[in-house]
Amino acid sequence: MWIEKYRPKTLDDVVNQRDAIGGIKALLKTPATMPHMLLSGPPGTGKSTVALCIARQLMGDNFRRLVLELNASDERGIGVVRERIKGFSQVIQTTPSGVQFGLVILDESDEMTRDAQTALRRIMETSSRTCRFILICNYQSGIIEPIQSRCSVFRFRYLEEKEAAGFMTRICKAESVDADPKAIARIFELSGGDLRSAINYLQVAAVRSKGGKLDLATVSKVVPAAENELIRDMLNLALQGEFIKSRDVMYELMGKHGLSGREIVRTANRELGRISDLSNEKRVEAVRALGECDFRLTQGANEDIQISAMLAQLNLVGRK
Ligand SMILES: Nc1ncnc2c1ncn2[C@@H]1O[C@H](COP(=O)(O)OP(=O)(O)OP(=O)(O)O)[C@@H](O)[C@H]1O
Ligand SMILES: [Mg+2]
Repeated sequence: MWIEKYRPKTLDDVVNQRDAIGGIKALLKTPATMPHMLLSGPPGTGKSTVALCIARQLMGDNFRRLVLELNASDERGIGVVRERIKGFSQVIQTTPSGVQFGLVILDESDEMTRDAQTALRRIMETSSRTCRFILICNYQSGIIEPIQSRCSVFRFRYLEEKEAAGFMTRICKAESVDADPKAIARIFELSGGDLRSAINYLQVAAVRSKGGKLDLATVSKVVPAAENELIRDMLNLALQGEFIKSRDVMYELMGKHGLSGREIVRTANRELGRISDLSNEKRVEAVRALGECDFRLTQGANEDIQISAMLAQLNLVGRK
């Protein structure tokens, strides 16, 4: 897997995210006083990578003993954290490393329930001498206020085309793939700034390309219309009054691509910004329809019905 092979090992190798990296490096100059951190931002932008770079830099050979990596959506989550932290306090006294604490990396922490987050907050307080946390999330708003205020927050952004393309070009060189810049540009467009999916598309396309030449045609062949493009189609159809057709695209996204309702609405929100021929008034109404749908989905409403209702709403907006 190229995403693992080319995952940066040190903070200096991470592409872009300058604000976050700059701030983190400054904190790591005095590791002893390092605060908890919250890394927040969209998928495939380097959050997990950066957390691992920090852990490696701080712990070196003690990585395995002093770093606990956990996925917060893991049910055993909080219990495991509690147990391991107890373990940390014993190891730390015997370790020759200068760092006097263990590190817990908690991925997807915005998926934790409020109760679990409250329990986590208590653990962060009681273990502050022996343990530091790096929490990772897609949405900072999904983290309870008292935890946010205990962390230094670093925001990650989607990568810009220039940086993502540069990274892909370097991979192609290393893999002896002769890539047409147009093919790279197309892959970036399909990825929407998510470098993980860009690298995955790149690998799939490279494997299929003949004689080490990666051109636009190969990319179009191996990468089916990307989900964001389908979502844009869905929006356009709805706004043009083609309700049934737009709903068919929705079923395709849920059925074939396995997207959840919330994923569809979130991407739709981003894609709406890319539809240029929309009056300000219509755009405002469309955003409102998306917002209502997103809210209802967070309340556990039926996805099929809510997205259909959103498309119906867009249909009305389009007619105005
Ligand atoms: N800023 C970056 N610099 C270099 N490589 C990156 C960067 N962002 C992502 N990548 C590449 O994409 C892969 C996935 O990145 P990573 O796991 O850090 O994403 P993430 O932000 O944690 O995403 P998610 O929210 O989906 O967990 C990495 O293995 C790496 O190859
Ligand atoms: Mg991650």
